[in-house]
Parts: sequence; C-alpha cells; structure tokens
Amino acid sequence: MTLLTNLSSSLQEIERDIWQKLSEGTDPKRTAFRYGTLATQGINGPQQRTVVLREVQPHERILLFYTDQRSAKVRELTAHPVVSWLFYEEATQTQIRLEAKATLHTRGALADACWARVPLSNRQEYMNELAPSTPLPGPPTESNVSSISPEESEQGRIHFTVVAVQVHRIDWLRLNRQGHQRAQFYYSMEGLKASWVVA
Ligand SMILES: Cc1cc2nc3c(=O)[nH]c(=O)nc-3n(C[C@H](O)[C@H](O)[C@H](O)COP(=O)(O)O)c2cc1C
Repeated sequence: MTLLTNLSSSLQEIERDIWQKLSEGTDPKRTAFRYGTLATQGINGPQQRTVVLREVQPHERILLFYTDQRSAKVRELTAHPVVSWLFYEEATQTQIRLEAKATLHTRGALADACWARVPLSNRQEYMNELAPSTPLPGPPTESNVSSISPEESEQGRIHFTVVAVQVHRIDWLRLNRQGHQRAQFYYSMEGLKASWVVA
C-alpha cells in the first residue's frame, strides 16, 4: 500500500468520492447509500441486517446509525465492537465495504442530540415494552402513531441507542465492461494508505 502523499490522483478522487457519496446517503431523497447491510459477529457466526445511515462525519471517518438498546446487534457489538458495513450504488455498479470499530451511545450528549432530531412518528419504534425479537402469539396489532404526544414519546428515549462506527478500512469495487476496478484504502497511524488490487 502507498501513503496518501504518493497516491495517484485517481485513488485520491475515489476516496473523496466515497465520503461524498456516504454524506449524501444521509439525505432521504438520495437513496444510493442511504441503506446499507451491517454485519456483526454473532454467537453462531456472522449476522447481517439493513440499517439507515443517519449521519456522516468525514473528517473523523465516523458513521452513525440508530437502534434499540435491547436488540441482538447491540449485544453482539458489546461483545465484539467491530462491523462490516456494505453499500451498493446500482447506477454506477459500485460496491463499498467498510470495516469499522463501533461505540454504543445510549446515554450522553450524542444520543440526546440525535434523539432530539428523531421525528415523533419514528420515536414509537423505541416505545415497545417488549424487546426486539420477543416471540408474539400472532401478528402485531396496528398502532396509532398520531395519538402519541411528544411527552409520551419520551418513553422511547431509554431504548434509543446511537451506534457510531469509525472506519479503518475501505474496499471499493466498480464493475465496468472495459474492466472491473477495485481499490483498498487503509487509515493507519501514518495516514491514509491505498492500493489498486485485482477485482
Ligand atoms: C429498510 C430497512 C431499514 C432499517 N433500518 C434500521 C435501522 O436504522 N436500525 C435498526 O436497528 N434496524 C433497522 N432495520 C431493521 C433491521 O434490519 C433488523 O431487522 C432489526 O434491527 C433487528 O436486527 P438484530 O436482531 O440483528 O438486532 C431496518 C430494516 C429495513 C428493512
């Protein structure tokens, strides 16, 4: 791998483009990188699920998603705070695979600030007295979101958790008729290292 100072301009452009696309992914109207597949290490092997990319801090290389503190993924992240987060943009046939370290924020300033931005309609997801994955005797009953007051919605705050992941490696792949392109980026103590690799 080559250090950033010696990187070819195309590798630098790709790295900039990745963070640009991820930042755009937090906009609900731009869907390319809005939903990603997040993998964690479960008790019996890898576990994957779709999560919404909520916020990107490119300078710190941090991505945020929201979840329920009682969910299986939180238990898995507590035991193994590492994730692989996969995004795919169909229009450009581009896949990015992020390796990152996760930190959980159920209390504190970050979780409070994010909670303040969660609309009333979404707060209900965190208000269920039963934890995610609890077995039910039948299909869930429909709930009336409009009947929830802002005060009532605060019941969801104790379950609301922000997961912040800091990216340390990116695998980028673009499919192309003229030849597939693949590059890897690694954020080390000395700076960004990058390399073209065989697709
Ligand atoms: C389009 C879509 C978006 C989702 N976004 C989230 C999300 O942002 N956070 C979350 O915890 N679960 C989200 N889910 C649900 C998860 O995929 C998963 O089913 C749930 O969180 C339970 O996962 P776990 O048992 O591995 O914890 C989403 C599901 C779909 C289909």
